[in-house]
Amino acid sequence: MSHAPENSVAAPAQISPEAVESAVQAALDAIAAASDSASLKAARAAHAGEGSPLAKLSARLRDVPPEKKAEFGKLVGQARGRVTQAFATREQEVIEAETAARLEAERVDITALPSRARVGARHPISLLQEEVADIFVGMGWEIAEGPELEHEWFNFDALNFDEDHPARQEQDTFYVDPIARHLVMRTHTSPVQVRSMLERDLPIYVLCPGRVYRTDEFDATHLPVFTQFEGLVVDKGITMAHLKGTLDHAARVLFGPEAKTRFRANFFPFTEPSAELDLWHPTFKGGARWIEWGGCGMVNPNVLRAAGIDPEEYSGFAFGMGIERTLMFRSDVQDMRDMAEGDVRFSEQFGMVV
Ligand code: PHE
Repeated sequence: MSHAPENSVAAPAQISPEAVESAVQAALDAIAAASDSASLKAARAAHAGEGSPLAKLSARLRDVPPEKKAEFGKLVGQARGRVTQAFATREQEVIEAETAARLEAERVDITALPSRARVGARHPISLLQEEVADIFVGMGWEIAEGPELEHEWFNFDALNFDEDHPARQEQDTFYVDPIARHLVMRTHTSPVQVRSMLERDLPIYVLCPGRVYRTDEFDATHLPVFTQFEGLVVDKGITMAHLKGTLDHAARVLFGPEAKTRFRANFFPFTEPSAELDLWHPTFKGGARWIEWGGCGMVNPNVLRAAGIDPEEYSGFAFGMGIERTLMFRSDVQDMRDMAEGDVRFSEQFGMVV
């Protein structure tokens, strides 16, 4: 048994109205069933092309007796006309459907607003400030704050600076008019030590990150406005070992497990003894070396007394570090001015943390 190909339709031997009608019907069925241009093309070849039943019936016209020619000619002609018309109509529908489907698939939502605004990046100083705060909050400390426009008493007097102490000038203070009001732009975050001691209950474990002001040059290693983080602990039995252990921990979290710290004797009116804090790391620019990181010491009993705390009962330690300096060494920033200029391309290098 042989199988005829799907599209081939048996050709009738003779022209008859039934044969013509059945060829037309087969064509119309195939046209209705064609759902895309490919199947429609195949249907056209099978039912309207050369060798299709209608074409063959048409060819047989020449065998028809003369008196029947007109009648059969009309019959076949009309049949071909119907089929051609049906193809044209279906073709139109299929093309429309296919165009619609393609347009839908390639649809672009022109109502969506383009994002013209560039995504920003947080400033690395803000990020580092929060990272430092997290280290201490992680140890149970609290975050303390104080005003940037500060009273001279908090910035100097309560911190045991003499009336005519050279540090008042050495720190290159921005005095604010009128002078009689004794307001300064705080030159360090240490006044927050005094505010914390006056405002809080003992024991005190606070970290104060914040902006400070000095009439410094604006150059690669100095900014007239910069950021410090101040630490203060006041509790019973606090020693310099606690200070060293705390700073070692902070150094290792910020710079990695190889970081080391050391103290060098120094003087601050508000700590006694006082130390310069140095930080060592093997990968610092220029090789493994010590860099000056900040100041620290045991809270001077005079400062405790100024805040109404009995130095016989309580002792404490304090430290203060520059955040810009920390960022400079941690991220190898060559010029501090990049941190002040607010160019988003600088910030972007530290990641798009939100
Ligand atoms: N306030 C000091 C400075 O800005 C640093 C410091 C803080 C020193 C706390 C000792 C204790 O230089």
